[in-house]
Amino acid sequence: MQDRTPRPEELEPVERAGVDELRALQLDRLRWSLRHAYDNVPHYRRAFEAAGVYPDDCRELADLARFPFTGKAELRENYPFGMFAVPRERIARLHASSGTTGRPTVVGYTSDDLATWARLMARSIRAAGGRPGDRVHVAYGYGLFTGGLGAHYGAEELGCTVIPVSGGMTERQVLLIRDFEPDVIMVTPSYMLAIVDEMERQGVDPKSTALQVGIFGAEPWTEDMRREMEQRLDMHAVDIYGLSEVMGPGVAVECVETKDGLHLWEDHFYPEVIDPVTGVVLPDGEQGELVLTSLTREAMPVVRYRTRDLTRLLPGTARSMRRIEKITGRTDDMMIVRGVNVFPTQIEELILRTPALSPHFQCVLDRQGRMDTLTVRVERRVGVAADEAERAGAALVEQVKNTIGVSIAVRVVEPDGVERSMGKMRRIVDQRRGR
Ligand code: DLL
Repeated sequence: MQDRTPRPEELEPVERAGVDELRALQLDRLRWSLRHAYDNVPHYRRAFEAAGVYPDDCRELADLARFPFTGKAELRENYPFGMFAVPRERIARLHASSGTTGRPTVVGYTSDDLATWARLMARSIRAAGGRPGDRVHVAYGYGLFTGGLGAHYGAEELGCTVIPVSGGMTERQVLLIRDFEPDVIMVTPSYMLAIVDEMERQGVDPKSTALQVGIFGAEPWTEDMRREMEQRLDMHAVDIYGLSEVMGPGVAVECVETKDGLHLWEDHFYPEVIDPVTGVVLPDGEQGELVLTSLTREAMPVVRYRTRDLTRLLPGTARSMRRIEKITGRTDDMMIVRGVNVFPTQIEELILRTPALSPHFQCVLDRQGRMDTLTVRVERRVGVAADEAERAGAALVEQVKNTIGVSIAVRVVEPDGVERSMGKMRRIVDQRRGR
């Protein structure tokens, strides 16, 4: 693999700012953002007043804990434009998150917000190992989803050649990777796997492409998945995180030289980790739900937005800004099976340690009597005999029992037997009645 570490002089000064300097900048910006939200968004004015706090009560960063949380429910109640803090004519673009049911969550950007987003995405791509002049294949979906356009403008801002492919038409993705020879690919990890399978089906050696860096996000993935991708593709696999409510991709990213968790761009977002049940702010290092406050957003400031993503805050390494550990999953993706909490990422880890099984899997939840049951549907790897894959499936049942402590069933299916995603993979199929 090529060394893709950016040179120190390529970084923005703030990426190397000392912690004190960073905290002073954050406090300044946080006070502006709270005032901006309170003055311009009726929801925040009401919510702050109900909690008996005012923007000027924020004298130090820890005072943020006195302010009320914001959740998806508040965004929905104010659908579509009630959370905007600027007049409608200043909104330069709308995006919306892919709510599976009902109203989507709408987000707006001023032209300055779009410029900030492009700069943060450029910073993220560079941290992940992209360079000016690289060809960047964008296979995140274009449209209301923030993945495609977010990656697109970030890569342009960095000075790359953008190939705006979007998701889908997997055969053509392979053709374009062969013929256009991109250095970087930006795509969900599950769709990358589908593309690699298609390369192999066409007889293309995935190691032979020009790709040097994959920037994967929009869904949880594990260290074992990183190893799988890096080995099969002979390229760096780097994690990128973000959410539309807070901006889109580029809130946090791993650095290619360390790959040890995602540096969160703290000059634009203030992170807290809370106990998801009590809402109490936890000290750095403890696992809980990530809560984000925007520090510079004009069109739609968010105050203490509950992401539902589970992680820990860790000190900076390759950059001075804090890191978040790779996301374990969302609080809503936690399956409770016979009283034990299980996340799809835990299943992914174990599957990837079982060579006869492929990384394509789904968790099917069902109910027998009063008990919830979990069946993992997983494909055997191409080239592995069916009886060997069956034995591996039985061994997986044992491993899950021994490491997670829960009894599940495993159904090994033929290659291509699990649905493919073109974007975010649906890991959990809930067949329990009444849901
Ligand atoms: O998924 C933005 C994005 C696009 C991020 C492309 C990275 C790359 P939403 O559709 O609003 O936005 O979904 C946000 O996706 O709260 C997490 O649950 C999940 N998610 C995003 N990135 C990661 C990641 C985009 N790296 C929701 N690891 C978030 C785990 C992720 N989960």
